Amino acid sequence: MTADLWDRTGVPVPVELPTVEDTEALGRRLAGMLQAGDLLVLTGPLGAGKTALVRGLGAGLGVSGRVTSPTFVLARQHRGPLPLLHVDAYRLRDAAATSGRPVTLDDLDLEEALTDGVAAVEWGEGLVEGLVDAWLEVRLERADDDLRTARVRPVGARWGV
Ligand SMILES: Nc1ncnc2c1ncn2[C@@H]1O[C@H](COP(=O)(O)OP(=O)(O)OP(=O)(O)O)[C@@H](O)[C@H]1O
Ligand SMILES: [Mg+2]
Repeated sequence: MTADLWDRTGVPVPVELPTVEDTEALGRRLAGMLQAGDLLVLTGPLGAGKTALVRGLGAGLGVSGRVTSPTFVLARQHRGPLPLLHVDAYRLRDAAATSGRPVTLDDLDLEEALTDGVAAVEWGEGLVEGLVDAWLEVRLERADDDLRTARVRPVGARWGV
């Protein structure tokens, strides 16, 4: 089940992603591991490839609609056999500033989305952890030579580590 993305103790095995297609392929690979209720938390700097990974995830899940950066919306729901909620929490800060009140992930109906589907949250580190008891942290790094690497860390009993 672990698909060799992490070792027996849950330590990620780094995956090198020379091209954007490799990043999308990792998303498709993750899609094959997911069931309703699963959450991906995507971390990594601007342009690391978080949205590219979600694009592959959406392709692997067979959901409808193009996966793009949700620039003007915080989240986008994609219909499919296993529906996908794609959240970009980076904009939560702007939304909070504009609305004058803190915006929480409750506003995004994350829990509702997870009852029959999956969710992928960009910039979700530190926001979603209190809402669920298991998730996959996908950490994308970009080295000085532009080589990108992913590390997938399983959290919670769901993943058996
Ligand atoms: N190996 C790679 N993996 C992912 N993206 C790559 C790779 N090589 C080049 N790129 C390019 O880097 C950019 C990554 O953009 P993407 O929107 O996926 O990043 P992001 O992490 O979602 O950024 P943001 O923090 O702004 O949401 C794209 O233009 C993509 O074509
Ligand atoms: Mg993005």
